[in-house]
Amino acid sequence: MTEAAVPPATSEGAGSPALVLLHAFPLDGRMWKPQVEALSSHHQVVVPDLRGFGSARDQVVEVAEMDLLADDVARLLDELGLDQVVLCGLSMGGYVSFAFARRHPGRLRGLVLAATKASADDEQAAAARLAMADRVLAEGIGFVPDAMLPQLLGTSTRRLRPTLVEKVTKLIIEQEPAAVAAAQRGMARRPDVTAELAAISVPALVLCGTEDERFGPEVGRGLAAAIPDATFVQIPEAGHLLNLEQPAQVNEALLDFVAPLWI
Ligand code: MLT
Repeated sequence: MTEAAVPPATSEGAGSPALVLLHAFPLDGRMWKPQVEALSSHHQVVVPDLRGFGSARDQVVEVAEMDLLADDVARLLDELGLDQVVLCGLSMGGYVSFAFARRHPGRLRGLVLAATKASADDEQAAAARLAMADRVLAEGIGFVPDAMLPQLLGTSTRRLRPTLVEKVTKLIIEQEPAAVAAAQRGMARRPDVTAELAAISVPALVLCGTEDERFGPEVGRGLAAAIPDATFVQIPEAGHLLNLEQPAQVNEALLDFVAPLWI
């Protein structure tokens, strides 16, 4: 396996516990801007770019395994001198968070799982990921926004908020094809972690958008039910990228969750 490396990251604010925000696919840490702005006056907020994405383009690998990305995050915490943090992952960031909870449980003070799921891909979904990996390497990133946007943004956002649709499109277009391919290969291989959820021993917050067609309320409720100390919060009029679609509600839920967890 590739050796873990410290990912490039921003760190804003001070205040315990530190919150580490892991981005979705195929975006980068800039998707967390509304959370950094609102939360960094209360907590240290750390936002890495995962392998190949954003400012981590020179760290791209062939297959971005979730375990490798989790170990990268642990290296970042070492570098920043952070023993324990609240880790928040959205979708692919959530898959990385599951791997982190398994490999580095002592580093967690709390866990936020947003728009994510514990199950692995079935054969068809894994094959579709590998096909996208091949296509993006052959054709470039241009087709990816159209392929992804209906899954990323809820119907309300797509109908009423063209500026946000444009912003997310721009974020996708700026990513490297090799990063998209590597992440798709890594996600296609990720394990089913359902059996590991009962072992999560820190408080957890499970967030989901009511308009998320793939990771909606049913998935979120199931995830929360399987984790011993979990709170489930639904975000209305949000799809998959709930932190961008309804930042005020997500910020409030994060602050309410994180504040009592001071170290
Ligand atoms: C994401 O938002 O990170 C993706 O939807 C994850 C996935 O493709 O499973």
